Amino acid sequence: MTETMVEAMNRDTTTNSIVITQLRKSYEKSADADAAYAVDNISFDVPKGQFVTLLGPSGCGKTTTLRCVAGLEHATEGRIEMGGEVVFDAARKRHVRPEERPIAMVPQSYGIWPHMKVIDNAAFPMRHGRNRRRGPEVRQRALEMLEQVGLAGMADRWATQLSGGQQQRLALARALLGDPEVLLLDEPLSNLDAKLRAKLRQELRSFQEQFGVTALYVTHDQAEALAMSDTVIVMNKGRIEQIDRPERLYDHPRSSFVADFIGSANLFPVRDASAGTRGGVLARTDLGPVLCSRTAPGEEVRHHNGGFVCVRPEDVGVRPADADAAPADNEFTGVVESAEFLGDRLELVVRSANLPITVSTRAGQDLRPGREVVLRLSPAATSYLAN
Ligand SMILES: Nc1ncnc2c1ncn2[C@@H]1O[C@H](COP(=O)(O)OP(=O)(O)OP(=O)(O)O)[C@@H](O)[C@H]1O
Ligand SMILES: [Mg+2]
Repeated sequence: MTETMVEAMNRDTTTNSIVITQLRKSYEKSADADAAYAVDNISFDVPKGQFVTLLGPSGCGKTTTLRCVAGLEHATEGRIEMGGEVVFDAARKRHVRPEERPIAMVPQSYGIWPHMKVIDNAAFPMRHGRNRRRGPEVRQRALEMLEQVGLAGMADRWATQLSGGQQQRLALARALLGDPEVLLLDEPLSNLDAKLRAKLRQELRSFQEQFGVTALYVTHDQAEALAMSDTVIVMNKGRIEQIDRPERLYDHPRSSFVADFIGSANLFPVRDASAGTRGGVLARTDLGPVLCSRTAPGEEVRHHNGGFVCVRPEDVGVRPADADAAPADNEFTGVVESAEFLGDRLELVVRSANLPITVSTRAGQDLRPGREVVLRLSPAATSYLAN
């Protein structure tokens, strides 16, 4: 038995809709040792009923992963299970065709057929999909679904006579009418304006819950990923950086890439780091020594060269400098370089030891450019990241 198979067997296929094991995909015909992999050895589960998001910058392999799950691409290595059935296994040359998989895909372009009426677009998977039906119930069900997605009264329009947001809902209605176990969604909201996008992401999530369908969603928009997902899978250059709940990703990033990609973060290069005398990690930076209570789970730091100190702008304390009081531990003096009033907060860039530090604070303090200030990096909110 290969290592891949042992690993796959140790994961629960009864509570997972999708189990992906060591998936690799190269688009090059002759995959040699130096081949570039669009997806490079990724493994993850999508638990039943959950909303799981693949998040990462352009070109990191999100669409490739989704297309492999859909069966529209053949992976080079690895294995994919759905509902307990192996739908792809590179070693055994097993590949279940897309239309035989319990999925429906909403591609980025919605995939609406312009030569069809709205109702015929919606009813398509019932007429041609895995579970075919006939007769008047098809039209009736499609009409009901159109009503549920807010397209009542539009059934007999041409699909091209819908707005972008309406086409998006039609694509969703059509996908749901195929009774899929898993919905695959590739940046379905990216062509919409910001307001509609925010509204539709709520709707999408409530449809997903209402229909009890599992969702694997792709986006490069971190706010969208945090707002919608039960679990986020952060990808970078074909690999997985971190799999976590949104709050954990934000509060406990495992790498400087994740910290930087999710929200905004101050990242200071570390010369060397060692275990603090009372727990945590003492990191030597250009600012001075910084005590960090947060470290990546499972990582015990005795002595390390390099890495980063990471602190969110809202976790940096700031007060005007006081000539009489010397800075305490984890406090550093600096000068306000810029101050922007953003309504709910004041955003400062403070320069300290030649490092720009972004600070988000409640407005109202006298913190104009040129002021000398003391910054406090609370150890509890400061992370040491080894890479
Ligand atoms: N059909 C193809 N042939 C060759 N290379 C491809 C093909 N499709 C994608 N790639 C390459 O594979 C890598 C991953 O592409 P992919 O489309 O999966 O990225 P993505 O994360 O979806 O990016 P985006 O956010 O821009 O949609 C990229 O380097 C891309 O150029
Ligand atoms: Mg893509």
